[in-house]
Amino acid sequence: MARTAAQYVCQDCGALHGKWTGRCDGCGAWNSVVEEVPTEAVPKGLGAGRGQVVPFVPLDGVSADAPRRNSGIAEFDRVTGGGLVPGSGVLIGGDPGIGKSTLVLQVVGRMAASFPCAYISGEEAIDQVRMRAARLGLENAPVQLASATNVRDIMTTLDVDGGPAVVVIDSIQTMYVDALESAPGSVAQVRASAQELVRLAKRRGFTVLLVGHVTKEGAIAGPRVLEHMVDTVLYFEGERGHQFRLLRAIKNRYGPTDEIGVFEMTDSGLMEVANPSELFLAERRRNASGSAVFAGIEGTRPLLVEIQALVAPSALATPRRAVVGWDSARLAMVLAVLDARCGLSLAGRDVYLNVAGGLRIGEPAADLAVAGAILSAVGDRPAPEGTVMFGEIGLSGEVRGVGQTPQRLKEAAKLGFVRAMTPLDSARRPATEAGIEIREIVHLRDLLAPFGCDADTLGAIARPEEVH
Ligand code: TYD
Ligand code: MG
Repeated sequence: MARTAAQYVCQDCGALHGKWTGRCDGCGAWNSVVEEVPTEAVPKGLGAGRGQVVPFVPLDGVSADAPRRNSGIAEFDRVTGGGLVPGSGVLIGGDPGIGKSTLVLQVVGRMAASFPCAYISGEEAIDQVRMRAARLGLENAPVQLASATNVRDIMTTLDVDGGPAVVVIDSIQTMYVDALESAPGSVAQVRASAQELVRLAKRRGFTVLLVGHVTKEGAIAGPRVLEHMVDTVLYFEGERGHQFRLLRAIKNRYGPTDEIGVFEMTDSGLMEVANPSELFLAERRRNASGSAVFAGIEGTRPLLVEIQALVAPSALATPRRAVVGWDSARLAMVLAVLDARCGLSLAGRDVYLNVAGGLRIGEPAADLAVAGAILSAVGDRPAPEGTVMFGEIGLSGEVRGVGQTPQRLKEAAKLGFVRAMTPLDSARRPATEAGIEIREIVHLRDLLAPFGCDADTLGAIARPEEVH
């Protein structure tokens, strides 16, 4: 028999290569390609024999809604789309140390009162999990605890009548299928382990929560392939050093994506944050320059955050642009539009941008607030009192409409804001309802005056050497 050719698999994205290479073509990662022995021979066509006829049905049939198992943790249930669906696989990804084990233990700790739950740890010993449970005040929760890593043993344990309704596997990278030669944590092992566990979950009707580590680039380590196997992918994220943690739905076959749940880390575990805007604005200094409040939407929920900017003379040939919590390419675009369309060149200046509180914003609607924060820093003048901002900036400097204006304004009004700088759109009616005064910004140029960036400032900025 011919020797099966070795294959080279990227441990970050799962791409296959014919030979070893230092850099994966698929995802661009360095040193991530590892030789793996192919596990299954590729099937050689169907051969003889007829299959069964697959019945077709019309689209408009009546199907029952997926039943849900509520965890009782509102922020978690919101992100899963109303609770866990029996017979489904959920992947919870996040950086090491971000709090995944704590989160899942709290979830099953709460759920165990209503459904039989099991927690299988491959990373921590029984005692460690017990200590954590004690710290979380969950030591009396009827969770079945086990420490195991062999998928065959786990399958045998779970493949019984009257087994648990929710099973946590912490983490999928520690699990291994003994029929494979590769090491635990490799793409082949992670994929095979997840496949077996999800298949059993579907057959037995339990929900399996797979915890997965994430690489620094943000992909769930190795198994981006995993994302296809499970029904729901959640990311648990947050900045180290900040106490906020966000649970974000990336994919959800049973509910909306983009939904977020907000938690605060405490000594006794994760606390739900029912009103995140308050939390993100809590440390804001009023009347400080270099700051603007963005009225954003995360999923279906409005969220106000402060965007901070600092503009300083640069000693570097290529000035620094440092961004925390936003897309740096997007900042470059806003700076280019300010330069080309508004005559504000920051070529000789360093620009720092920070989304306060450790949140990461993906919405283009933040453009206007970013520009506001930069202008406020340049002119050293605070944004007009009590103002929120939102709007997408186009390359010609036009400010474009964004969705969900009423929700943004309502949230702003709820937190005591009285003005909004918005794109020109149908915002007026909901605005008056919300009691917010609207200032429509048609072109980015219109934003210069409110922030005190007049011709003099622009002149001074253009000639930084004369500032001193
Ligand atoms: P852990 O849940 O172990 O993170 P992960 O499973 O993602 O690697 O949490 C990391 C550490 O943070 C752990 O020592 C416990 C601590 N922690 C708290 O003290 N309070 C909290 O609310 C959370 C989430 C974690
Ligand atoms: Mg852990």
